[in-house]
Amino acid sequence: MSYEYKEKIALWEWYDSPEVTSTNDEVKNLLAKTNLVVLSAEKQSGGRGRRGRKWQGVSGNLYFTYTYQIPTQDLSKYVCLIGLSLAKTVQEIVQSADIQIKWPNDVFLNGGKLSGILLENISENLWAIGIGVNIVGAPEIANNRYKAASLSENGVFISRIDFLKKYLEIFMTDSAQYIKEGFETIRKKWLDYAMNLGSVVTIKNEAHEKQGIFLTLDDSGYIVLKTEQGIERIIAGDLFT
Ligand code: BTN
Repeated sequence: MSYEYKEKIALWEWYDSPEVTSTNDEVKNLLAKTNLVVLSAEKQSGGRGRRGRKWQGVSGNLYFTYTYQIPTQDLSKYVCLIGLSLAKTVQEIVQSADIQIKWPNDVFLNGGKLSGILLENISENLWAIGIGVNIVGAPEIANNRYKAASLSENGVFISRIDFLKKYLEIFMTDSAQYIKEGFETIRKKWLDYAMNLGSVVTIKNEAHEKQGIFLTLDDSGYIVLKTEQGIERIIAGDLFT
C-alpha cells in the first residue's frame, strides 16, 4: 500500500492513499506510533460492507477508516452516535435537505443511501470505524430495495477531504458530549433523524427475523419493536420495510 502522512485532524493522525483494498484492513498497518489514526483513500479495490456485502466504489468518493477506543458496554451506543455524527455532517453541508438515519447508522439523503458504516474490532477496546460516503457518484446497488444517492447528484459539491475533516470534528464533539453527559442527548437527536419511526419494520439478523412497530431507540442504542409477542429490544441487524 502506498500512503502519505498528511496532518493531524482533531485527535487523529491522518494518512491518505490513492488506492487500497479496504481502508478497514490497511488502517491496522498505521498503528505503530499512536492508537488514533485515520486512513482515507481515493479508491478501494475490495471495499467491504456490513454482513459480508461489498461496498461498491466510484473513484473520488470518500472512503476512510479511523480508530477509536470504545468500551464493550458502549458499543451499541457508539454505533448510533457514529451515524448521528455523519447525519449532522451531511446536514451542515446540505442544510435544507431530507436527511434520515436508517437504523442503526445508514445515512439517507432525499430517499437514497448516501453512506455506510462498518465497525470492526482491532484488539480489546480498539475499533476500526470505516465509513463510505458517496460524494461524486452513487454506485448501482444490486438486489437492493433502495437506491444509492450522492452529494453531487443533489447539487452539493464538497471535496472528500473537507467532508472528512468536518466529520471528525463533529464526531469528536459528539463523543465528548456522550462521555460528559451520557447517551440521552445523543439518543434524542438520533430519534429526530430516525427513518420509519412508528411504522412496521422487519429486523433481520443471523439469529432471527422480527416484525413489529418501531417504537424507539432504548438507552443502550437497541431498537425497540412492538411485536405480536410483546416489546422486544434488538441489538443488531438490518432493517427492512
Ligand atoms: C454498509 O453500509 O454495508 C457499510 C459500508 C462501509 C463502507 C466503508 S468504505 C471505507 C471502509 N472500508 C471498507 O472496506 N468498508 C468501509
